[in-house]
This record gives sequence, structure tokens and C-alpha cells, in this order.
Amino acid sequence: MGFKIISSLNILLLLVTISQSGAILDPHYYDKTCPQAENIINQAVRNATKYDPKVPARILRMFFHDCFIRGCDASVLLDSTPTNKAEKDGPPNVSLAAFYVIDDAKNKLEQSCPKTVSCADIIAIAARDVVVLSGGPNWSVLKGRKDGRISRANETINLPAPSSNTSQLIQSFSQRGLSAKDFVALSGGHTLGFSHCSSFEARLRNFSSTHDSDPTLNPQFAAGLKSKCPKPNTDRNAGQFLDSTSSVFDNDYYEGLSEGKECLFRPIVVG
Ligand code: HEM
Repeated sequence: MGFKIISSLNILLLLVTISQSGAILDPHYYDKTCPQAENIINQAVRNATKYDPKVPARILRMFFHDCFIRGCDASVLLDSTPTNKAEKDGPPNVSLAAFYVIDDAKNKLEQSCPKTVSCADIIAIAARDVVVLSGGPNWSVLKGRKDGRISRANETINLPAPSSNTSQLIQSFSQRGLSAKDFVALSGGHTLGFSHCSSFEARLRNFSSTHDSDPTLNPQFAAGLKSKCPKPNTDRNAGQFLDSTSSVFDNDYYEGLSEGKECLFRPIVVG
């Protein structure tokens, strides 16, 4: 329960702390200029989720990846050009998906209130909506973010890697004004979604000179993962859900962590 509370507070923190690129954010930002903005975005998110239950996890991760590079400025949405490889095409982002949901909301908003609502605010609102749709907490989204025009694939190297150790991750979060506690709480975003084998297979075989698998993984869990991710692996879509209730925003991720079960990536080892 405690973690759930911290987790919600810190998704708020993500919004408040790393969203700010100098702009003053306000929950009533569009009250006069586009009062229907949140309804339009909510509708787009709901429609998409009805047809594809993977949408909530995808949007939540997209929001994190947007915010971590250059702040929450929608730079993750920009396409590459002949002279610039954009964030979207950086290695950690090629597995991002569901951009069409944000595009759909933006197109509808352009019809209702042209040139008013930033894409950065659309992602932030959509991320809140997917958490709520998945049974998580609700909050009032602060708005008024400006869209960035710079998007560089090489900067995505600063996104936390599944191979990073705890101190590297804490340092990476601290460079964005987030504490170790924020890091643990935000990692609770992994209560939703799925990971491909490629993201965690380094923990399963030839892990170290003394251990074939990472000894911090529950051995039974590691054995299960090995069979899901055989070598050679011909199924590029093979992988593992990030917790046992992967479409519900709950505490299950943290509960599994203490048993060495749920943490597919190196970052958090509890106990
Ligand atoms: C703490 C450092 C983090 C690391 C190292 C990390 C790493 C990863 C990796 C490797 C994947 C699997 C990608 C794949 O194989 O397709 C993933 C998935 C995911 N991450 Fe993170 N992540 C971190 C933090 C976060 C945060 C802060 C959030 C949101 C609050 C988040 C939300 C998600 C979600 C929702 C998915 C599932 C995506 C899907 O099912 O499409 N992650 N993460």
C-alpha cells in the first residue's frame, strides 16, 4: 500500500519536476482556450485502449521517455529527417509504440481548438488517463508545456538502460532533480506492460564467472524466463510481462520484487 501511494505521488512529481522547461504550469491552462481538451484526449485514449489493451503501458512508457530527454516537450514524437536522426529512432525508443493515439488526439484538438494544445500536454494528460483507466490514481494534470523542436537520437543514450546498476540509475535520476526514492517509486510504472527477452537476457545466461544466472533473481523465476527466452530465440516478440497483473496499475510489481521475481532489469533489487 505504501508503495502505491509513493508511486502515485511520484508520477505527479515526474509531471511537476521534470516537465518544467521554464514554463509556468497551470491546471486551468486551457479552461478558456480549449475547455474540451481533456475530454477529447480521454476519448482518444479510451477508444484506442478498447481495441488494443497494450496502449496504456505504451503511453506511460512514452511519457517517461519523452520527459527524461530534454524534459516533457514531446520531442519523442518528432520524426527523423534526412539531416537529423530523431529521438524516436534512438535504440531505446524503437520499441516505443502507440504514437497514433497522440496523433489522433492532436488531430481532433486541431479541429476544435486549432494551434492551442501542445503535444507535450497531450502526452502528459494521456499518461494520467492510462493510469486511471488501468485502475490507478487520478490527479489534476498541470498544463502549459511547450513543444520542443529539437530531437536527437544520440541523446537517448541518457535513458536508463536495463543493464544499468542501481548507482548509475540513481545518478541518472538525480541529474533530473529526482531522488533515489523517486527512482524507486517511478519504477513502479512497471506495474504495466511487457518486456522483450533482449532487455533482460543478459541476466539469464553467462551472467558472471561464478553464476550462470543473476543470483538476485528467484531461481524458479529465472528458469521460467530461460524457457520463455530460449537460445537461439527465433521469436522476436518473446518476453515477459512486467508483473503478474500487467494491465492493472497496482502494487504487484513491488510485491514480486521482494521475491526476486518481477525485476527483469538490473535496477532495483529489494532486500
Ligand atoms: C528506472 C529505470 C528504468 C529502466 C531501466 C527501464 C527499462 C525498461 C525496459 C528495458 C523495458 C522493456 C522494453 C522492451 O523490451 O520492449 C521497459 C518497459 C516499460 N517501462 Fe521502463 N524503465 C525504467 C523506468 C520506467 C519508468 C520511470 C516508467 C514510467 C513511470 C516506465 C514505464 C515502462 C512501461 C509502462 C513499460 C512497458 C511498455 C510496454 O509494455 O510497451 N519505465 N522499461
